[in-house]
Amino acid sequence: MRGVTTSGSADLVILANRLPVDRVRSADGTLGWRRSPGGLVSALEPIMRNNDGAWIGWPGVPDEDVEPFVDEGLSLVPVPMSAQEVEEFYEGFSNGTLWPLYHDVVAKPEFHREWWDSYVAVNERFAEKAAEIAAEGATVWVQDYQMQLVPRMLRERRPDLRIGFYLHIPFPPTELFQQLPWRRQILEGLLGADIVGFQLNGAAQNFVRLVRQRVGHKTHRDTVYLPDGRTVQARAFPISIDTRGFEELARSESVTQRAAQIREALGNPKTVLLGIDRLDYTKGIYPRLRAYSELVAEGRFSVDDAVFVQVATPSRERVEQYRVLRDDIDRLVGRINGDLGRIGQPAISYMHSSFPRHEMAALYRAADIMVVTPYRDGMNLVAKEYVACRYDNDGALVLSEFAGAAEELRQAWRVNPYDINGMKAAILEAAHADDREVTRRMKAMRKTIMEHDVAGWAAAFLGALSEVQGTHSKTLRPSRRS
Ligand code: G6P
Repeated sequence: MRGVTTSGSADLVILANRLPVDRVRSADGTLGWRRSPGGLVSALEPIMRNNDGAWIGWPGVPDEDVEPFVDEGLSLVPVPMSAQEVEEFYEGFSNGTLWPLYHDVVAKPEFHREWWDSYVAVNERFAEKAAEIAAEGATVWVQDYQMQLVPRMLRERRPDLRIGFYLHIPFPPTELFQQLPWRRQILEGLLGADIVGFQLNGAAQNFVRLVRQRVGHKTHRDTVYLPDGRTVQARAFPISIDTRGFEELARSESVTQRAAQIREALGNPKTVLLGIDRLDYTKGIYPRLRAYSELVAEGRFSVDDAVFVQVATPSRERVEQYRVLRDDIDRLVGRINGDLGRIGQPAISYMHSSFPRHEMAALYRAADIMVVTPYRDGMNLVAKEYVACRYDNDGALVLSEFAGAAEELRQAWRVNPYDINGMKAAILEAAHADDREVTRRMKAMRKTIMEHDVAGWAAAFLGALSEVQGTHSKTLRPSRRS
């Protein structure tokens, strides 16, 4: 087995805000790590193993200064953050400024100069670490909105590297992005990469237009021409999931049993509707539950034979807007169940907790209708996971047209989450559709996600990056997949 990453030893570096592990304390009090589930890490694992790969990220808790270590064969390189940085860089600039700004200002972004200073300082620390561990001519792939200054900072230190950047969330329309006092620095930070990847074409176009207008570089289609002769490509690479892995899990005996148990516990209703989201104001949980409650109040669904299961995963709990949202949802669910529920028969079965993949797959199997209604979402992998688990081509998906996934999952019942009546109509239509219609739609969506899984996404991005001319970088060895 390969050893711990040392200076200048990694041919492939993944750099993200978080490491793909969580700090956990076991029963006997010892501290350890648990792999956090996620398509990204499973997709990248084979190619990382083959290329002396290393993953740079924050361990998820403040003031934790840990040496690089190997977890299940993966080299992990922790970057520490102080409590103040967690407040200013993570909760502040990343999730109080950029997150709402990039999601169509669904909530009001706050602009604070100390938050920006902290963002610069933390990005610097990550860039420094990547510059230290990357081998000569290595590939560095920087992930997401928390790290937008890293590409430029890294190129200044290490011009020999191939640098890719991928934004997992939407990139906003130019009119909104321009609110940002540090708009030029962010654009220049991203232009340090050879390829800037987005979920959708529209986002790539927003970026290119801004670069032309704000930085003044020449652009043509998806290419930016820099004064020093270098070019940067801005392209869409829609992310996906480990489709086969999810399907396999969904087919397992234990998930099948658990799905039956869940339906039983719900009283074996005729219709189970399901929502699973991080508890985030972009996800449109509030209007979705309102739409459903009106349908119950109007007698279109009855608590005798239908239930809406809503799982909200705790997230960013110290950020004010997330606290407010939690209270709003608690109150709404309480009111709906108070008004419409009966003993042992709530209209909404609400859980504020996170579940392992196994339980998620069982919930997807137990649900007749999955309702995904974000106001804005980069992709939304929950929608794809539901489709992956419906191997019998049954189950209906109601999907917001403002989720990136709507561009690929075209056969879903599409909704505008701002239009409550429209959502009610779509949920009803999905509930009353005949089996042939449901199957036709699900089959088409399954074909799409079988053909485009997360391994294909990673291969497409890294393949495009390896074709970049003009660097002295090495070519990565492809992964040998069994
Ligand atoms: C989104 C972002 C990720 C982020 C995740 C969870 O998917 O694109 O970068 O890691 O949310 O949020 P958290 O703040 O807990 O890392």
